[in-house]
Amino acid sequence: MAVIKWQECYATGVAPFDQDHQKLVALINDVYEAIRKGDGDERIGELIQPFLVYAESHFAREESAMQRYAFSGYEKHREEHQAFRNHMDSLLKRAEREKVDGMALDLLNVMRQWLLNHILVTDKEYASTLQSVDLD
Ligand SMILES: [Fe+2]
Repeated sequence: MAVIKWQECYATGVAPFDQDHQKLVALINDVYEAIRKGDGDERIGELIQPFLVYAESHFAREESAMQRYAFSGYEKHREEHQAFRNHMDSLLKRAEREKVDGMALDLLNVMRQWLLNHILVTDKEYASTLQSVDLD
């Protein structure tokens, strides 16, 4: 079962980033599967590592493309990535400290909402600048 099903309306039209986003969606679904199997509240930090690691490499790819092609929303976009990093960091620290039942699903929900909102609003803003360039 998946918490996010990829839909065409999520696509920015920038192929390498749409592929990255699909991978991030798949990684969130993997976390959900792992949580459903049981000890997510104990192991959440470890379970979300693959998502966080891939998100970092994806953010770096987006930021370098936006900078290279002088996208005017670059700074704001970079700040949004940074805010997500900080937010996840503080949620994880709190999760480690408090170990509350159900927190794994809460954290997953934060990741899901952030990713979809970020793709649908902020990432779509670079579409017109980056759709026409060759990023490979
Ligand atoms: Fe982004």
